[in-house]
Amino acid sequence: MVTIEIDGKQYEAQEGRTILEVARSNQIHIPTLCFHPALKPSGSCKLCAVEVIGKTGKAVTMLSCILKVKDGMQIKTTGPLVTRARRNAFRRLIAMAPQSKRLRQMAAEENIDLGAPADGCIRCRLCIRVCKEIVGAGALKMARRDGQSLVVPVAGRCLGCGTCATLCPTHVIKITDVDGTRTISIRDEVIGRQPLKKCEGCGKWYATASFADLIEQRTAEHPHLKEHHAYCPTCAKLFSDRLEVIKKQATKQQMILR
Ligand code: SF4
Ligand code: FES
Repeated sequence: MVTIEIDGKQYEAQEGRTILEVARSNQIHIPTLCFHPALKPSGSCKLCAVEVIGKTGKAVTMLSCILKVKDGMQIKTTGPLVTRARRNAFRRLIAMAPQSKRLRQMAAEENIDLGAPADGCIRCRLCIRVCKEIVGAGALKMARRDGQSLVVPVAGRCLGCGTCATLCPTHVIKITDVDGTRTISIRDEVIGRQPLKKCEGCGKWYATASFADLIEQRTAEHPHLKEHHAYCPTCAKLFSDRLEVIKKQATKQQMILR
């Protein structure tokens, strides 16, 4: 048997046991994730760090799931060194598993702030800028929520064109076309929901009515463009190619007849 000190209190422990085993058998809390009593310790998660006074008298952090007790060992399971080691460990783990609720809950229990969960947006503002500068709808803006700057919808402005989703480099803005309705969303928030129009050529849903109206207005001064507004891009291309061929044939015929 050896005598060790944990958090200022003395405990008798069997030689060969780890600090974690001795702490747990004395109801002392140390967080762990990679430890399993039926397996050899691997020291992977690093959450079980504790402060140990080394031979030189200097305090160092060590992994309690690996380090075996020695007579006279002085251990602290809390304090600035331990908090720093655990914070680093939690941050490293959350970067690898950002979706893990368990990690966030464990960190909160240890009073470690991991910041807000990543939402997939890199704040490049391409979506906001294109919607304002080119489309002219202004359906997106930056807003502060829970201490974070987020891209959020401006209610009632989205035309459903999907330009924001096309430009978004991380594809966090989604377009869903179901039963003649287009929904554009970011995270789990709806930016806009609009009815779709059917292509008069092939019958496919191809654009929202609001966006088609906008294009109609914008191209009002160019009537030759209007003949393709009722078609999806594929049919419009097909018809415009045919139109070109017909025009060329007509010119050729006129030249022959002259
Ligand atoms: S949603 Fe996409 S386009 Fe908009 S700021 Fe975030 S990453 Fe950039
Ligand atoms: S429990 Fe994971 S490193 Fe010790």
